[in-house]
Amino acid sequence: HTYVAIMAGGIGSRFWPVSRMNYPKQFLDILGTGRTLIQQTFLRFAKFVPKENIFVVTSNEYVDLVKEQLSEIPTENIIGEPFRKNTAPCVAYISTKLLQKDPEASLIVAPSDHLILEEQTFLDVCAKALDFVNHFNALVTIGVQPTYPNTGYGYIQHEPLEAAPEVYKVKTFTEKPNKELAQTFIDSGDFLWNAGIFVWQVKRIMDAFHHHLPEMYELFAAEAHKFNTEEENELINTIYPQCTSISIDFGIMEKARNVFVIPASFGWSDLGTWNSAWENMEKDYLGNAVAGKRVMVIDATRCVVHTSDEKLVILQGLDDFIIVDTKDALLICQKEKEQDIKEYVADVKRNI
Ligand code: GDD
Ligand code: MG
Repeated sequence: HTYVAIMAGGIGSRFWPVSRMNYPKQFLDILGTGRTLIQQTFLRFAKFVPKENIFVVTSNEYVDLVKEQLSEIPTENIIGEPFRKNTAPCVAYISTKLLQKDPEASLIVAPSDHLILEEQTFLDVCAKALDFVNHFNALVTIGVQPTYPNTGYGYIQHEPLEAAPEVYKVKTFTEKPNKELAQTFIDSGDFLWNAGIFVWQVKRIMDAFHHHLPEMYELFAAEAHKFNTEEENELINTIYPQCTSISIDFGIMEKARNVFVIPASFGWSDLGTWNSAWENMEKDYLGNAVAGKRVMVIDATRCVVHTSDEKLVILQGLDDFIIVDTKDALLICQKEKEQDIKEYVADVKRNI
C-alpha cells in the first residue's frame, strides 16, 4: 500500500541560466555527478518501493523529459498537469487517483530537486514515518536542523510526544517567514526547517483538503470516479483552471492540527541556489568548484563554475563568484547576491 509521488513541476529560477523554463533544475546534473536530480530522486525511492508504485507529477510540457530521463518508470505513472498551480493541486490530483485505486494507500510526497547524501538514513526515516501514519491520524513531515535565517523554507516548532519518542507533535508551522521572523526562529533554537518531504495516508490528506481547502477538495472529489479512466484528462483540463494556485505548505501544513515531525539528519540540501550547489560539490584547494570539462582556474578562490563542455573557459583572479556559461547566456555574479538572480532574470524578461 505504499506509494511515492515525486513533484517535478517547478521552474528553479535561481539556477538561471542553466535552469530554464523549458529545462528546469530537476532535469539537470547541477553537481556534475553523472545523474540528474530527478534521476537521483527516483533511484533513491526505487530502493524502497516497487517502480510501479512511484509516480511523477509534472507540467504537461515536461512529460517527455521525464519519460526520457526515467525510462524505467511505467509511462502511465507520469502525470501531466495542464497549468502550473503550485503543489496543493498536484497533491490533490495524485491523491484522488490513488484513493480510487487503493483506499488504504499511504504516500510519500517528495520534491524532485533535492540532494540527499545519506540515503539509507533517509529511507529509515521514511519507514518510521510510514509506520507512524499507519497507526495514527497524522500528517508527517521531515524536519532538519536549521543553520541560518533562510526565508524560502518552512519553520516548524514542535513538542514532545509520549506515544512515539522519535516523532513530535507540531505546535506551529510557518511557511516562508520574513527575514526578521526567520531570525527570531533561529535565535530561539526551538525550530526545524521543513525539508518538504511528507508522509501520510491518502485518506488523511484528503480529509485535510476537505477541511482547509474545501473548494479544491470539491473539484477533485466530486468526480473522483472518473480518475484512472479515459475521462480523466478532459476532467483535469476543466478542474485545473478552477484551482487556486497555492502550495501544500501554505494551504494545508500551516493550518492542519494533526501535523507531526520527525527530526532527522541525512545530508539534506534543497540545492536552492548556486551557493548551496557549491557547498555540495568537490572543490580544489582554493575552494573552487567546477562542473565542466574545459575550465582553467587561475588565482581564484571559492568560485562555482558551471560550463558546457564545448567551450574552453579561462578564469583568473575572481573570489566568491558564480560563473555559469550556457549556449545563449552567461552569468557572472557575486555569490552573496545570488538570491537576486531571480529578479535579474525577471528584469531581463521584461527589458530584453
Ligand atoms: N507537479 C508540480 N506542480 N510540482 C511542482 C509545482 C507544480 O505546480 N510547483 C513546484 N513543484 C515541485 C518543485 O519542482 C519541487 O520539486 C517541489 O514541488 C517543491 O516546490 P518548490 O517551489 O521548490 O518549493 P519551495 O522550495 O519554495 O518550498 C518547499 O520546500 C522547502 C524545502 O526545500 C516547502 O515545502 C518549504 O516548507 C520547505 O522548507
Ligand atoms: Mg524548492
